[in-house]
Amino acid sequence: MVKMSVPKVIIDTDAGIDDALAIFMALAAHKRGEIEVIAVTTVHGNTGVHHVNNNVLRILKTVDLMEIPVYSGAAKSLVHPWTHSGEMFHGTDGFGDAHLPAIPPASSLLKPQHAVWTLLELVNKYPNEIVLTALGPLTNVALAIRLEPAFTSRLAAIYAMGGNTRGLGNITSAAEFNFICDPESAKVVLEETLIPIYLTPWETCLDGVTIPYSLRKKLGDIQNPITELMNKIEAKILKKQHYENWITCDQLAVAWMINDAKNQHSQQGGEKGCGDGEGRLVSTSKSCFATVELNGSLTRGQMAIDHRDLMNRTSNLIIMTSIDEQLYLRYLKMAFGGEF
Ligand code: BDR
Ligand code: CA
Repeated sequence: MVKMSVPKVIIDTDAGIDDALAIFMALAAHKRGEIEVIAVTTVHGNTGVHHVNNNVLRILKTVDLMEIPVYSGAAKSLVHPWTHSGEMFHGTDGFGDAHLPAIPPASSLLKPQHAVWTLLELVNKYPNEIVLTALGPLTNVALAIRLEPAFTSRLAAIYAMGGNTRGLGNITSAAEFNFICDPESAKVVLEETLIPIYLTPWETCLDGVTIPYSLRKKLGDIQNPITELMNKIEAKILKKQHYENWITCDQLAVAWMINDAKNQHSQQGGEKGCGDGEGRLVSTSKSCFATVELNGSLTRGQMAIDHRDLMNRTSNLIIMTSIDEQLYLRYLKMAFGGEF
């Protein structure tokens, strides 16, 4: 039987604690042959990009996948630097200031090319084969669009975590973190994308899924290097319990990406077992046009949805509104190194 090729995935990340588990999820799917992670590109956000680079290398080392190349990306927002970082949740180093043992210096392991050039190079090398999964501020993606306006048309798909649908903020009262970190980039990406973006917004993360902290603890009870790292870096969040339930963000975006890849693969007659019988992770979604507010004194960074089509623009987003929670739990279990 001819082996069908699986999507080539690039993860653009500001890792970050939830990014870390999301990346472990993607790497588990990579090991299972459901996707092929061909590169990780990094961006400022939850912490400085130099910490993000270290964090990504640590993730790859934890699961023995150091052969996946890592490219360092934008260290600052496009126009206005965001000075607050994600410190409150992610610590100053993005990994909960957990005093982890040292790993080899990032500089020697990172690829020398800038992340944005890499994005452009890879889409030209593999036109319409790459699935870009953006888990942080959209600075690298906006820069790629500025350098090559047709960039997104050469992608197979884009998944992103960010923005909000009801004006609910998680860092200011009106804006979601990835969008407020670099609103200009978010606007460029939303307004100039040439294919619809599969977007996981903050409200779906907050109230579209209910995972009690007790269940998170149970997921982390499996003994392996992944849970060991995750339990350490997430310890403060689990102790403080900022929200009523355990919140996952980037993990949802990655689970959606893998689930779509598996379903597509089985539709194309790929190997049995790949997506067969699993069903769709996303139960409902909303297709619409949205952009980003840049000038509001209280609402900068908020996503503005054209609910009534008054802007007369083609839909640029497919927004996740609800999911199959039981199926998602299987994805989370897989991310923590358990059986799917
Ligand atoms: C997003 O912001 C970051 O802190 C998380 O990693 C996630 O990507 C949630 O608003
Ligand atoms: Ca993130």
